[in-house]
Amino acid sequence: FSHQGEMPLIVQPVLQPLRLSLDKLRDVSSRLHKGLVQGLGKHSHHRAAVKMLPTFVRATPDGTEKGDFLALDLGGTNFRVLHVRVLQAEQKVVKMDSQICVVPKDMMTGATQQLFDHIASCLGDFIASQELKGQTLPLGFTFSFPCEQKEIDKSILIRWTKGFNCPGVEGRDVVTLLRDAVRRRGDYDIGSVAMVNDTVGTMMSCGYKDQSCEIGMIIGTGTNACYMEEMKNVKRVEGEDGRMCINTEWGGFGDDGSLRDIQTEFDQMVDKTSINPGVHIFEKMISGMYLGEIVRLLLLRLSEEKLLFKGQKSEVLQTPEIFQTKFISEIEEEDTGLDNARRILTQLDLQWDEADVRVVRLVCDTVSSRSARLCAAALATIANKMRLNRGLDRLQTTVGVDGTVYRKHPNFSEELQLTVRLLAPECSITFLVSEDGSGKGAAMVTAVAQRLCVLFPCLHFLIKSYMSDLKNE
Ligand code: BGC
Repeated sequence: FSHQGEMPLIVQPVLQPLRLSLDKLRDVSSRLHKGLVQGLGKHSHHRAAVKMLPTFVRATPDGTEKGDFLALDLGGTNFRVLHVRVLQAEQKVVKMDSQICVVPKDMMTGATQQLFDHIASCLGDFIASQELKGQTLPLGFTFSFPCEQKEIDKSILIRWTKGFNCPGVEGRDVVTLLRDAVRRRGDYDIGSVAMVNDTVGTMMSCGYKDQSCEIGMIIGTGTNACYMEEMKNVKRVEGEDGRMCINTEWGGFGDDGSLRDIQTEFDQMVDKTSINPGVHIFEKMISGMYLGEIVRLLLLRLSEEKLLFKGQKSEVLQTPEIFQTKFISEIEEEDTGLDNARRILTQLDLQWDEADVRVVRLVCDTVSSRSARLCAAALATIANKMRLNRGLDRLQTTVGVDGTVYRKHPNFSEELQLTVRLLAPECSITFLVSEDGSGKGAAMVTAVAQRLCVLFPCLHFLIKSYMSDLKNE
């Protein structure tokens, strides 16, 4: 731990439960491993907390993909619409243009039709502004929520996560909801749709550059990872050959109570007051949507115990979401961190002294460090599984990564990588920060699906229709 040596004894009892030893992380990793196997099982997946969703992405890019695509991206910080071109000659994905549309907070928990009409209207405006109205381009839809995919273009929402909770969407096909909304407008059309989780988009966007990229990981508003699993282990999908990308939805780890021993009272409080209590327990200990809240609750407790801010009763600290996750990154900056802490505490109207500033930084470090180490344990579990799957002494692989926490926090990535090396010593993992996985990656998935379509599903379809033609004759 970067600041462990300096931990003032006095705050130790409050922070200690958040400090996870390597042995504890190994233990968490072996629990997750059991969870992954349960999620893949034909008969056990219904009860599994870690959903292990088949994505129907059977191949990573091979560099022959090309064409123009539209991409939608819903589920991170913003909703975006993009026009993307995949250039085969230069092995490059080029973003032609993009537009951000705000999804108002009340729409995130409002009526289904209103949300999808908003999406269709943003897409319509964008298509018009790009003068693409007459064309029907294939569309990659990055929809970053757990979905049961039946095919690449049929995706049933299992549950909302993060800040979204529109009643009535769970259990329905998101592609149908989108197509219906586009039809209601009637002024443009969309071609084939490929549904993509952001982890998959991230893996695929890195995969164009580095063909050994077989894991995608997001540590942003939410957290999750996907990886290429052997088909023979994916018991829920027919076929034994090759691999398929599995969206683990590791955020749900712990929803069956399996993380109770490491959940602190602060985690329980964050969960209880969230819009989806009891679900995505692992995510709530890790991702950007929740880290600021955990810090706030710790600061509140320390001040109640008169260990901070001279024990002032502070209404500020009782205000949910007042301590933003980005403050953690700012306060942990190596050179400017303490100054940033002084500025932030002043802005929050807290009466602080120099000792307080250091304790606040320690609290931030403890919370972000736990998050990085838990992610490392989860990533190590996947890498170790892939190595054993393939019967290798050593696995060499690349992880495509994205998300504000990973990108913006000053030492998150370093701590994560260091811990993975300790927990998966037989794996050499290269980390590649994805360039706009949710946008370009979605286009890539669509492009690979189209490339493969020539080989597999279309062939399959042709054979099927040929056979039925024969029958009819
Ligand atoms: C969602 C995942 C997504 C992750 C990162 C989670 O809340 O369930 O589908 O990949 O956030 O955006």
